[in-house]
Amino acid sequence: MVSAVQNEKLTRVGPGTPAGDLFRRYWQPAILAEEVPEKDGPPVRVRILCEDLLAFRDSEGKVALVDAFCPHRRAPFYFGRNEDGGIRCAYHGWKFDRHGDCMDMPTEPGNERMKSNVKLTAYPTHEAGGIIWAYLGPREHMPLPPDYEWMRVPHEFLHVSKTYEECNYLQALEGGLDTAHSSYAHNNNMSAKSDPRLLDKSPRLDVHPTDYGYYYVSTRNMGQGDTYVRLYHYVMPFQQMRGGIHEFSGARRKAPALDGHVWVPVDDETTFVYNWHHTYDSTTPIDEAHRIHTEVFYGRGPEDMIPGTYKLKKNKRNDYMIDRQLQKAKVYTGIVGINTQDFALQEGMGAIVDRSKEHLGATDHAIIAMRSMLLRAIDAVAVGGAAPGADPATHRGMRPYDDFVRAGEDWWAKFEPEIKAKW
Ligand code: FES
Ligand SMILES: [Fe+2]
Repeated sequence: MVSAVQNEKLTRVGPGTPAGDLFRRYWQPAILAEEVPEKDGPPVRVRILCEDLLAFRDSEGKVALVDAFCPHRRAPFYFGRNEDGGIRCAYHGWKFDRHGDCMDMPTEPGNERMKSNVKLTAYPTHEAGGIIWAYLGPREHMPLPPDYEWMRVPHEFLHVSKTYEECNYLQALEGGLDTAHSSYAHNNNMSAKSDPRLLDKSPRLDVHPTDYGYYYVSTRNMGQGDTYVRLYHYVMPFQQMRGGIHEFSGARRKAPALDGHVWVPVDDETTFVYNWHHTYDSTTPIDEAHRIHTEVFYGRGPEDMIPGTYKLKKNKRNDYMIDRQLQKAKVYTGIVGINTQDFALQEGMGAIVDRSKEHLGATDHAIIAMRSMLLRAIDAVAVGGAAPGADPATHRGMRPYDDFVRAGEDWWAKFEPEIKAKW
């Protein structure tokens, strides 16, 4: 457990909060590139770390991320016109470029001084891996853009998506670092015989700190001395990477793949979960069917979403459409969709769970380690230190993995070459 004071420190993300200051030292996903497909196209509302912003792709094809409100009299830029290298406010026509510089101030003709003094808050962006990344922190501390292996994977082998989750980022991230819950929460076939998560419901966890966060190894007994070993990475501040060479839950993977999530705080009580998935190597490209299959498997396929949004139809307002008959017969939760199962449990805790009431055990070890890393990083940044894992040199060379290990086999000899980036 953490104290109520530590819980506050970890979960509040607005400007000037301790965790908010830490998170502003990292580049993070702001939107999917698909949300701003064309130059001079419609702008998109963005909320990130409690800040209301607006994204648009300008005439040069670069993505702007600026204050959602006009500096004149605070009209929403959302209704503005994206034209000739900037966004023009629909109220009185003031126009700004992606750097926040005023290009035109038609209500103040000839007042060059005012035009050059009025700035619009604008954040740097970086487009890679199907995502528009943003840096919201102080410029003097801006690291190089991130370089996770999955960001380098060509489009034909990479799939990214995002889902809106109605709770604080931390309890969602904790779910992603909690390998033990899949024995229950994601048990989609209670009669399955060979699923390691059902054969052994208390995996042993071994956490190894690194420069980017940690990796942890989860081991489950398969009988006769054989084990299933899954290696996850926790990448500061809110990313998980997991081996998905062997998927269970009835999933039939079209190609060995790796997966992960980045949980970006929208504000203290809501989160955008960015999901990435790429093939193990360049043997099998990802076609449209594979993309849909991946989304449907996790319960966020086209049929699962409220049209025009990144929100699930099965949500807390309809109890995730739990089916009590299905719960008796086959699926442990009675809820269909891996992500939906997670959301029911994570959102159901309340927007910000009270961690002072917890009773943590051995399988919570990775979560405990992540919380203390975040608390240490918050304190370090508060006194002028660096943000761990923000430098791409710390994270560009690694990847996760999972595999079966026979009795007497050296698991590390098997894993070591596999946890090095191949793209
Ligand atoms: S409020 Fe935007 S130009 Fe006046
Ligand atoms: Fe889960």
